[in-house]
Amino acid sequence: MSTWSPSSWRAKPAKHIPDDYPIPSQLAEVEATLSGYPPLVFAGEVRRLKQRLGDVAMGKAFLMQGGDCAESFREFHPDNLRDMFRVMMQMAVVLTYGGGKPVIKVGRIAGQFAKPRSSATETIDGITLPSYRGDNINGMAFTEASRMPDPERLLKAYGQAASTLNLLRAFSTGGYANLNNIHKWTLGYVKDSPQSQRYSDLCDKISDAMDFMQACGVTPESTPQMAATEYYTSHEGLLLGYEQAMTRIDSTSGRWYDTSAHMLWIGNRTRDLDGAHIEFCKGVENPIAVKIGPELGADELLKLIDALNPKNEAGRITLISRYGHEQVAKELPALARAVKRSGRHVVWSCDPMHGNTLKTSSGYKTRPFDMILSEVKNFMRVLHSEGCWPGGVHFEMTGQNVTECIGGARELREEDLSSRYHTHCDPRLNADQALELAFLIAEELRVNRSDEHAVAV
Ligand code: PEP
Ligand code: CO
Repeated sequence: MSTWSPSSWRAKPAKHIPDDYPIPSQLAEVEATLSGYPPLVFAGEVRRLKQRLGDVAMGKAFLMQGGDCAESFREFHPDNLRDMFRVMMQMAVVLTYGGGKPVIKVGRIAGQFAKPRSSATETIDGITLPSYRGDNINGMAFTEASRMPDPERLLKAYGQAASTLNLLRAFSTGGYANLNNIHKWTLGYVKDSPQSQRYSDLCDKISDAMDFMQACGVTPESTPQMAATEYYTSHEGLLLGYEQAMTRIDSTSGRWYDTSAHMLWIGNRTRDLDGAHIEFCKGVENPIAVKIGPELGADELLKLIDALNPKNEAGRITLISRYGHEQVAKELPALARAVKRSGRHVVWSCDPMHGNTLKTSSGYKTRPFDMILSEVKNFMRVLHSEGCWPGGVHFEMTGQNVTECIGGARELREEDLSSRYHTHCDPRLNADQALELAFLIAEELRVNRSDEHAVAV
């Protein structure tokens, strides 16, 4: 640790960070410019999220993390942000009511641009070009110019993240998130779906309870938690030049915080113990999540946890399991047992998206709703039977009416995918599917709960 600095990662092997900027000095200039820009989040907020995640680690709260696979410049629109916020609020209501615990809301938002890619190049009709790597690096269009990394994109991504956060702060504290508005969060196109009726029935129950509480003097005016909500941001800490530029010393604590987001995660492909991504995350105080997937042994997992959390602070580490619906039941028990036996505090969260991706015969990447649900259920059952708290979920989702994942109550079929397939990277749940999943998870939470406060939703 004594040799750590925001740039010490540069001496380590760095996977998935582009090194083919045409003029490297231009990238350095942009990073220097960014390091003089205002922080996007504040250390006090980051500390509060860590406290909340500490509650999750102790089984007293539930984490709900979700958003786009990749944010894009093209889909940047206040309506899209509002719709994502709405559906996350609805899901949180369902999970809070069903699980009987506070739900900590963390978006994959305001900085989720850079993507690790399985291949460095893409070939179409005999032409090979560098792969698309996220809007803060290069462009999606299949032309040589567009696929060239461009440092100016980092400044545009920072600007988009800043205005996204500004709007999210307004939504969460400016009145929109007031619990009296729960009926209003339903999106237009979800209105005629079975989820909508179920959600509306739940809102009626909550409204009745609130009328009663308000008659007793507990009102949004007297109880700020009813008038506003806490909403946190996160993204994959992949592009370390950007993360370094956003890392500042907090004047209150004298410690380093990455001010690009409240929480960062390290991807399944970049979590090498001796690699650049672990090195960078070691030295910042933010809560860190690590994606864990097939073939990670218990010994290596414990070493990863110790590297990132030597003081065993609850809330510092979230393990996001992403095995696929079948593999999770085979691989997770040994890991859960080893972590529990060692006394290390972690949040266990489930990403049921990245291990369940298929390609259809017509070439679309998709994810079947049933597999997504089955992975969450298997994850929860494994952890319960190991005596651990299945503390959270991690989704790729959108508030838009896209057709990217198949299945769900509306039985989206392979043939439907082409009608509204808009993702810049992986297939996302649409709002309807996301809400349906929240109801199904709420049921699972209720089934698995051992205390007497479980409620049917
Ligand atoms: C992601 O979350 O978008 C991602 C690339 O996941 P993973 O690292 O789990 O593959
Ligand atoms: Co993805």
